Amino acid sequence: MANVTVIGAQWGDEGKGKIVDWLASRADAVVRFQGGHNAGHTLVVGDKVYKLSLLPSGIVTGTLSIIGNGVVLDPWALKAEIEKLEGQGVTITPDNFAIADNCPLILPLHRDLDGLRETAAGAGKIGTTGRGIGPAYEDKVGRRAIRVCDLAHLDHLEPQLDRLCAHHDALRAGFDQPPVDRDELLADLREIAPFVLQFAQPVWKRLKKVRKAGAKILFEGAQGVLLDVDHGTYPFVTSSNTVSGTAAAGSGLGPGSTGFVLGIVKAYTTRVGSGPFPTELNDDVGQRLGERGHEFGTVTGRQRRCGWFDAVLVRQSCAISGVTGIALTKLDVLDGFDTVRICTGYRLDGKILDYFPSHAADQAAVEPIYEEMEGWRETTAGARSWADLPAQAIKYIQRVQELIETPVALVSTSPEREDTILVRDPFVDRG
Ligand code: GDP
Ligand code: IMO
Ligand code: MG
Repeated sequence: MANVTVIGAQWGDEGKGKIVDWLASRADAVVRFQGGHNAGHTLVVGDKVYKLSLLPSGIVTGTLSIIGNGVVLDPWALKAEIEKLEGQGVTITPDNFAIADNCPLILPLHRDLDGLRETAAGAGKIGTTGRGIGPAYEDKVGRRAIRVCDLAHLDHLEPQLDRLCAHHDALRAGFDQPPVDRDELLADLREIAPFVLQFAQPVWKRLKKVRKAGAKILFEGAQGVLLDVDHGTYPFVTSSNTVSGTAAAGSGLGPGSTGFVLGIVKAYTTRVGSGPFPTELNDDVGQRLGERGHEFGTVTGRQRRCGWFDAVLVRQSCAISGVTGIALTKLDVLDGFDTVRICTGYRLDGKILDYFPSHAADQAAVEPIYEEMEGWRETTAGARSWADLPAQAIKYIQRVQELIETPVALVSTSPEREDTILVRDPFVDRG
């Protein structure tokens, strides 16, 4: 058994989708295990561009794709995404796509609450994607969620709706909103139920079978370790655990199943939404990174904040998530800089820190300590082997590797699937 778990090691948008798509052709199943349609994964294959939010990135190669129980699923967003991809020629049937029947649903009332809270929060807003992710996870833990399997039992939903609406009606009243329209909600659920149910099953069982047959499973994380609800820049985080360990709990396999943990790491840093960002550049360098890297969110279209590579953060993410090796992406975006900088530590109240502190105020106050390196004039865009890289770019990769105390397994040099340099194959090399 040689499974691979792909996770983001920064604040998301590291290029997970591209790498998962590239690895998917060697996998027998691709599994999403947390998050929801807050994710935005862009895949470029030849002249085709696929934008996925909820579907596992393996769907494009036709690999068996599974949404695990750890995901929160908006059934209407699912239908729209499936229809969009089918329009692009991707085949999605119960043979190559399955949804965990114990997966909690994101309902319109969750999206309402996400928006109401963000609007009311003023300067304290998180900058969420507005997809209802946080409220849906709250209802899961609060034991009020409607789940995929409930769609087959809608005639018996009343007691669950009583519990759910007792909670939401009180919250909505606080925002001067009318109570939940239960008849409308039920009618909407009845309409969408057959579509979702054709894919629903106990996926732990299917995965057990797949695993027994010796198949390779690729777990696809969404977001990144710095958005993890425990380990991230709380409260400016998402509402799920994004670390590698979640792959097991979020799919119904044991902890030994995660295999090679591949951390996806952008060669610089970006963040979308509010919260601390020590190496953020509000100058023409930051703007240049954003322009060269096309740093606009796939989901909300928001401009991503950009800054130099922060080795302290990535070292911490790799340690917390047990990263075996990294995929370094978007190296080409650094082409043409005279010098490049890497953050190697922080200054806080006259002390030097080699880690990112837990308190939001300290996280906002740390000053980055930089190391400067000579840049490279040549282009790395489209490089497919180590030999195609300029010497200075190799030096940069080696320095990153040293500072984060984790080896590089892959390097990505353009959005295109095949523009990828393989250093160590995660499916055969278990670290
Ligand atoms: P994800 O959320 O981690 O899957 O990442 P996104 O898809 O949101 O953002 C990454 C963006 O960078 C996408 O538009 C990709 O097509 C693009 N991308 C991925 N790898 C590379 C790379 O090596 N070079 C460049 N220039 N773009 C890349
Ligand atoms: P992928 O998978 C980048 C951010 C939001 C916000 C915070 C909470 O494409 O890397 P939420 O809607 O989850 O409650 O928002 O998390 N966020 C992401 N940022 N990439 C993502 O996913 C993200 N998913 C959520 O911008 O700051
Ligand atoms: Mg993204």
